Amino acid sequence: MAKLILNDEEFEVADGENIVETIEEAGVPIGCSNGVCGTCEIEVLEGMENLSPLTQEESDLGMEGNKRLGCQCEILKGSVKVDY
Ligand code: FES
Repeated sequence: MAKLILNDEEFEVADGENIVETIEEAGVPIGCSNGVCGTCEIEVLEGMENLSPLTQEESDLGMEGNKRLGCQCEILKGSVKVDY
Protein backbone atom coordinates (compact mmCIF):
# COMPACT_ATOMS: atom_id res chain seq x y z
CA MET A 1 0.00 0.00 0.00
CA ALA A 2 1.13 3.48 -0.84
CA LYS A 3 0.04 6.62 0.95
CA LEU A 4 -1.28 9.84 -0.54
CA ILE A 5 -1.38 12.91 1.69
CA LEU A 6 -3.64 15.78 0.70
CA ASN A 7 -4.55 18.69 2.99
CA ASP A 8 -2.97 16.76 5.88
CA GLU A 9 -5.40 13.90 5.30
CA GLU A 10 -3.91 10.49 4.53
CA PHE A 11 -5.34 8.06 1.98
CA GLU A 12 -4.18 4.51 1.32
CA VAL A 13 -3.80 3.69 -2.36
CA ALA A 14 -2.74 0.34 -3.81
CA ASP A 15 0.76 0.35 -5.28
CA GLY A 16 0.55 1.15 -8.99
CA GLU A 17 -2.96 2.57 -8.81
CA ASN A 18 -4.02 5.79 -10.53
CA ILE A 19 -4.70 8.49 -7.92
CA VAL A 20 -7.60 10.23 -9.69
CA GLU A 21 -10.39 8.66 -7.63
CA THR A 22 -8.58 9.35 -4.37
CA ILE A 23 -7.91 13.01 -5.12
CA GLU A 24 -11.47 13.50 -6.34
CA GLU A 25 -12.74 12.06 -3.07
CA ALA A 26 -10.44 14.53 -1.29
CA GLY A 27 -11.94 17.50 -3.12
CA VAL A 28 -9.73 18.07 -6.17
CA PRO A 29 -11.92 19.05 -9.15
CA ILE A 30 -11.76 16.47 -11.94
CA GLY A 31 -12.86 17.01 -15.51
CA CYS A 32 -12.07 14.71 -18.40
CA SER A 33 -9.90 12.14 -16.54
CA ASN A 34 -7.95 11.77 -19.78
CA GLY A 35 -5.18 14.35 -19.56
CA VAL A 36 -6.91 16.82 -21.86
CA CYS A 37 -8.68 19.54 -19.83
CA GLY A 38 -6.07 20.39 -17.17
CA THR A 39 -8.69 20.69 -14.40
CA CYS A 40 -6.97 18.19 -12.12
CA GLU A 41 -3.64 20.04 -11.82
CA ILE A 42 -1.90 19.29 -8.54
CA GLU A 43 1.35 20.33 -6.93
CA VAL A 44 3.57 17.57 -5.61
CA LEU A 45 5.11 18.73 -2.34
CA GLU A 46 6.94 15.50 -1.46
CA GLY A 47 7.56 12.12 -3.05
CA MET A 48 7.60 12.93 -6.79
CA GLU A 49 9.95 9.94 -7.18
CA ASN A 50 7.09 7.68 -6.06
CA LEU A 51 4.83 8.71 -8.95
CA SER A 52 4.79 7.34 -12.50
CA PRO A 53 6.79 9.39 -15.02
CA LEU A 54 5.31 12.47 -16.71
CA THR A 55 2.99 11.50 -19.57
CA GLN A 56 2.86 13.05 -23.03
CA GLU A 57 -0.50 14.59 -22.09
CA GLU A 58 1.07 16.29 -19.09
CA SER A 59 3.93 17.64 -21.21
CA ASP A 60 1.44 18.91 -23.77
CA LEU A 61 -0.39 20.87 -21.05
CA GLY A 62 2.86 22.40 -19.76
CA MET A 63 3.26 20.42 -16.56
CA GLU A 64 6.81 20.80 -15.28
CA GLY A 65 8.67 21.06 -12.00
CA ASN A 66 6.33 19.86 -9.26
CA LYS A 67 3.14 20.31 -11.32
CA ARG A 68 1.27 17.18 -12.43
CA LEU A 69 -2.13 16.21 -13.75
CA GLY A 70 -3.72 14.13 -11.02
CA CYS A 71 -5.61 11.98 -13.50
CA GLN A 72 -2.35 10.93 -15.16
CA CYS A 73 -0.45 9.91 -12.03
CA GLU A 74 -0.06 6.44 -10.66
CA ILE A 75 1.41 6.11 -7.21
CA LEU A 76 4.09 3.43 -7.39
CA LYS A 77 5.02 3.03 -3.72
CA GLY A 78 5.77 4.91 -0.54
CA SER A 79 4.29 8.25 0.31
CA VAL A 80 3.36 11.27 -1.82
CA LYS A 81 2.19 14.63 -0.49
CA VAL A 82 0.20 16.86 -2.83
CA ASP A 83 -1.72 20.13 -2.83
CA TYR A 84 -4.03 21.74 -5.37
S1 FES B 1 -9.19 15.66 -15.41
FE1 FES B 1 -8.83 16.54 -17.35
S2 FES B 1 -6.67 16.56 -17.43
FE2 FES B 1 -7.07 15.51 -15.59
